[in-house]
Amino acid sequence: MGNTRRNFIKKTSLGTIGLTSSSSNFFIGKNILGANDRINCAVVGVRSRGKAHAAAINSQNNSKIIFNCDVDDIIIEDNNKWCKKNIGYVPKIEKDFRKLIENKDLDAVFIATPEHWHAHMTIMASQAGKHVYIEKPCSHNLYENELLGVAQKKYGTKIQMGNQQRSAITSILAIDEIRNGIIGDVYKGEAYYSNNRGSIGIGKIVQVPKFLDWDLWQGPAPRVPYKDNIHPYNWHWFRNWGTGEVHNNGTHEIDICRWALGVNYPKSVTSFGGKYSYQDDWEFVDNQQVTFKYQDGKFITWTGHSRGLIQPKQPGRGVTIYGSKGSIQLDRNFYKLYDLGGNLIKHEKEGAVSKTIDTRGQGGLDENHVGNLFDSIRYNKSLNAEIKDASISTHLCHLANLAQDSGKTLQIDTKTGKILNSIVDNYWKREYAPGWEPKV
Ligand SMILES: NC(=O)c1ccc[n+]([C@@H]2O[C@H](COP(=O)([O-])OP(=O)(O)OC[C@H]3O[C@@H](n4cnc5c(N)ncnc54)[C@H](O)[C@@H]3O)[C@@H](O)[C@H]2O)c1
Repeated sequence: MGNTRRNFIKKTSLGTIGLTSSSSNFFIGKNILGANDRINCAVVGVRSRGKAHAAAINSQNNSKIIFNCDVDDIIIEDNNKWCKKNIGYVPKIEKDFRKLIENKDLDAVFIATPEHWHAHMTIMASQAGKHVYIEKPCSHNLYENELLGVAQKKYGTKIQMGNQQRSAITSILAIDEIRNGIIGDVYKGEAYYSNNRGSIGIGKIVQVPKFLDWDLWQGPAPRVPYKDNIHPYNWHWFRNWGTGEVHNNGTHEIDICRWALGVNYPKSVTSFGGKYSYQDDWEFVDNQQVTFKYQDGKFITWTGHSRGLIQPKQPGRGVTIYGSKGSIQLDRNFYKLYDLGGNLIKHEKEGAVSKTIDTRGQGGLDENHVGNLFDSIRYNKSLNAEIKDASISTHLCHLANLAQDSGKTLQIDTKTGKILNSIVDNYWKREYAPGWEPKV
């Protein structure tokens, strides 16, 4: 089946428009899979979030992880053991993403690397005709964000962003009920995240460990010496690779507010905040308050407490949507409806099957979200977090960081999302390592 299918893909890649869904195959841009064809996947970046991807792929019928990709031998070795135990087989290893996507049998890549790689890998994979599940945030800067939409249009592959709450049954229900007026006219989305992250210390320049390909890890980012407090995970708090908490967690909650309010680009953005808890290498604010104001009077707020929990005690993350007749509280695992007086009217819980079970997001929402991507690949079903729309939520988070850094209220073109007042030169883009400028 595999060879037949792939020959078919090759032969039809330039002229598939005539195919219709009345055959067992469906037109989906370049890559065509029949309803019964296996979807061959690769997981890229296999330390933490990559395992949630692997578990979600493994939960789907007729799919297989044919490759794992990482640049750290110890992480690869640990993940091989994890795979054996949890999915029952150990996929092949390809360390270099560029070689990985040349593989003809590969249909979809799942990207869970640091964020300076996200847009590059998505664009390169799409160019190679692969479908993509890209973790949030989908880009490191506004320029890359823009290119993702262009790439999707040009190459026609499916690109789903990893904001998996878009596939939560209770969130889908809540948004549907909001659209039908259950809380009247919606005007405010309040997004929050509360954590007590520790210090990341002051890193020391040390020799690159033998088990790590630091050059490949850095990829598109300008080269710097290796320090002992960057990899794994703490790259989130360095600007060369990460994007801070408003992207790390805000992308989820701000996205839900945007969905509930039915809005895209705001007319202005303000941000206040600072780094209050530790003297360390962390390069972003660790507490932040952002307001996105919209033309029609609606607004979204983001309260990010990375270090120091929100008091009085609030759940770790979530969203409240306010309307003229009541409010709705949403998180990954439930939906609560309140009247204007704050009385609980309804409480819908995400079923045991689709519940999120840990901080790397693992659980049923991933399974729904990955299942939705597979349905889109096989049956051309709409994606729940299609990149053109999902990238607008990432765009808002970039604006939040730019408002914070500039100390100005950003005035935004509500059609394009571009900043109208002057803040800093070249805010749209980053510098790249030589030869790594993204191209579509
Ligand atoms: N959707 C969610 O709920 C959720 C939850 C957690 C993390 N995430 C996202 O997942 C991504 C990964 O986060 P994490 O916590 O797993 O980070 P991590 O640092 O634990 O893991 C990243 C992995 O990527 C590998 N890597 C780096 N460069 C690579 C390259 N060129 N090719 C292949 N592998 C490479 C690293 O070696 C590491 O194993 C981030 O973008 C994060 O925001 C999403």
